[in-house]
Amino acid sequence: MYGPLILLAALLPFTSAQLDAYAKKAGLKYFGAATDSPGQRERAGLEASYEQYDAILRDGNEFGSTTPTNGQKWLFTEPEQGVFNFTEGDIVTSIAQEQGLIQRCHALVWHSQLAPWVEAASADWTPETLSAVIVAHVTNVMEHYRGRCYAWDVVNEALDEDGGYCDSIFYRVLGADFIKLAFRTAAVVEPGVKLYYNYYNIEKPSPKSDGVLRIVRMLQEDGIKIDGVGFQGHFVASRPPTLDEQIAAIDAYGALGVEVAYTELDVRQTTPVNETSLEWQANAYADAVGACVQAKACIGVTIWDFYDPFSWVPYTFPGEDAALLWFEDFAKHPAYDAIIDALKNGTASPCKRKKRRRAQMAARRAKLQ
Ligand SMILES: *[C@@H]1O[C@H](CO)[C@@H](O)[C@H](O)[C@H]1NC(C)=O
Ligand SMILES: *[C@@H]1O[C@H](CO)[C@@H](O)[C@H](O)[C@H]1NC(C)=O
Ligand SMILES: *[C@@H]1O[C@H](CO)[C@@H](O)[C@H](O)[C@H]1NC(C)=O
Repeated sequence: MYGPLILLAALLPFTSAQLDAYAKKAGLKYFGAATDSPGQRERAGLEASYEQYDAILRDGNEFGSTTPTNGQKWLFTEPEQGVFNFTEGDIVTSIAQEQGLIQRCHALVWHSQLAPWVEAASADWTPETLSAVIVAHVTNVMEHYRGRCYAWDVVNEALDEDGGYCDSIFYRVLGADFIKLAFRTAAVVEPGVKLYYNYYNIEKPSPKSDGVLRIVRMLQEDGIKIDGVGFQGHFVASRPPTLDEQIAAIDAYGALGVEVAYTELDVRQTTPVNETSLEWQANAYADAVGACVQAKACIGVTIWDFYDPFSWVPYTFPGEDAALLWFEDFAKHPAYDAIIDALKNGTASPCKRKKRRRAQMAARRAKLQ
């Protein structure tokens, strides 16, 4: 009597499209979403939508992984030298633990969102003193989160668009050795965690992408552990990298023996959005996810939050918005179904898929009106 009911209950999660469930079927480790702590949202005056938001975040078939958008950054974790504060980062970590989500941890050494004391004019660092600062930071933060991270973004954004090192307090004092020091330290603190270098605009072959390949080789030649490269994937709907460009970029890292993950994927569009820009966005998401499914080295995709009002985009790029998968009223973007399609892809011909995507978008538009 209960048998069929239990069977039905077991099947129910798959009755509506679910990103992580399909990602796993497509051979990926996870489809994840970054999130901020509720505390930060309250301060931003966005707490009203939180319950509905939280239900999606905790839907195990939707997201199999999460990342604290901000809470583990240096600004929050070591606001004063030697004073560590894990309050913000712990909120997201405890959601990950309660829900059994994989956690990508982010980010240990980065010149932005850095605590002001590191860059203060009075801080007269020598290579020795700044090295000690990096070692203490990496060690304390990683020890606090030991056993709870699948991966750490050890170094974030160290290059310019032309592939040369960008100006930062770390590079000025230590040169490229700061990267070696950060990875070497991380490998000692937690040997089992995946260590990533994370960046944007490296999702297609370019001088900057070559620069990241150079960093990977530099570490490998010195016998320093690096396991992965994070493609942030902050794309613009009107000019994203193509599917083939992304596959070529992933393969280039794969050839060096490291894995790749999309770590901060979002696709922003000019406001007000229209059918065309939503279709561009859907295609851009499908190509990124499709590249990850097709290229052997790519293991998973994380989007940079999932709900438009919580996105960083409108604060950073005035006039652009709607970069994620849920609109303000919690209706899904057409890109949601396009991603599911890219995850299911492999059997239907490209032409059939395009037709199907068009039909789904038309249905969704009809529903929205
Ligand atoms: C730690 O951070 C939290 C959240 O940002 C803040 O509310 C709290 O006051 C901080 N604790 C200390 C001791 O500074
Ligand atoms: C839709 O938006 C894009 C910019 O995002 C613009 O180039 C295009 O002209 C718009 N199309 C219509 C029909 O308004
Ligand atoms: C879908 O699969 C086909 C056949 O394997 C492939 O050529 C195409 O690039 C894939 N599309 C996406 C978006 O992954």
